[in-house]
Amino acid sequence: MSFHMPSPTLKCDVSYCGPSSPESDDDSDANSLTFSPPFSGPPSVSSSLTSYEVDPSIRSASPESVLSIGSSLQAQVYRHEYGRGVNNYSEVYRLPGDDEEFERLDKQHLMFIEIMGEKFPPPFREIMADNVPGERKACLDLGCGSGSWIMDVAREFPNCNAVAVDLVPMQSPQMPSNLRSEVDDINLGLEHFYGDFNVVHARLMSSGIKDYHRVIDQISHVLRPGGLIDVAEFDFYPYNEEHQRILLDTHSLRTPWWAQWMTFLASAARARGGDLDAATHLYDWICGHPAFEDVVYREFWLPIVPSRKDSPALHKITRFMTEDVEAFLKSGRPLILGSGLPEDVLFDLEEKARKEVYEAKIPQYTRLQCVYARKKHLTPPP
Ligand SMILES: C[S@@+](CC[C@H](N)C(=O)[O-])C[C@H]1O[C@@H](n2cnc3c(N)ncnc32)[C@H](O)[C@@H]1O
Repeated sequence: MSFHMPSPTLKCDVSYCGPSSPESDDDSDANSLTFSPPFSGPPSVSSSLTSYEVDPSIRSASPESVLSIGSSLQAQVYRHEYGRGVNNYSEVYRLPGDDEEFERLDKQHLMFIEIMGEKFPPPFREIMADNVPGERKACLDLGCGSGSWIMDVAREFPNCNAVAVDLVPMQSPQMPSNLRSEVDDINLGLEHFYGDFNVVHARLMSSGIKDYHRVIDQISHVLRPGGLIDVAEFDFYPYNEEHQRILLDTHSLRTPWWAQWMTFLASAARARGGDLDAATHLYDWICGHPAFEDVVYREFWLPIVPSRKDSPALHKITRFMTEDVEAFLKSGRPLILGSGLPEDVLFDLEEKARKEVYEAKIPQYTRLQCVYARKKHLTPPP
């Protein structure tokens, strides 16, 4: 496997070495990005299909290739919409990528571990074990967000190469040295990664993906033989106590309010071109792909408002969920307001949804669908 060396015109390929806030307009060293060392050899592909163009003039002359991002790079990476920092790169994905959102994602990551009872699906550790002479294991996280998942990988498998891709850079002050963050739009293709990874992970990125089925096919090429695809997505539908869809539209405002808010969010994300139905099709797509075998499907019903019938374990995560909903209602503002819903209508709806969740009278759920599978050792020709 080989990786791009930093070059004057490059995919923004960074590890972070200071606190940041998209709100901040500070050019000080605290807002610097450092290039992490290339993992191996010369670049495999002359240039990425995507390349986040970084103005070479903003690179410092420091021997560590410190890239002072300050206000100019922040302006390149983020735009400010309705009080939030949203990526400046994709017209499809319009949820925030700022510190507040990363904090929400970090907490959500811990909640997923609690719900699933494990950090990684069963074959993961065996596949990533450092037990093949001459092979350095490699793991790719697509749409990494704050990077909480891939940082767990990089720390637990210090001899692996870990790569995280997102529309915004990871901003952890504790970036492991075997982890690299790349700013890139997955919609533009993954060809530059073909054959490079033992594991490809993607979680909750469907609202920013135009054609998820194509991404699944590309992942089949990114994986090495025997490798693992591990994907998880919400389907953006609200569900009732019987796990039936709560069907609402965007032409009227009705209870349950959280379900109504979710309907506006999903409608706005669909209008931008996000492949929101990916969750529903993941299993069929992966099962039907000739490169994959040993396909495993799991689903998790997450209570926005739990029912009395739910297990104590589900009730235990309600505290996390309530906090997550509170934060997510704010995260949805750039997307929903950008779709044209008036501010006063949205804020009223948010307030009603918040109250409904705290009153906890109307059980409502969201569904997480997860699929993992192995890439066959011998893949039939296309
Ligand atoms: C809801 S967050 C989930 C983050 C992380 N996977 C997790 O589970 O915590 C979705 C992430 O996917 C990224 N994303 C969405 N569409 C993308 C695209 N086309 N290319 C790269 N990243 C994308 C977003 O920027 C965001 O950070």
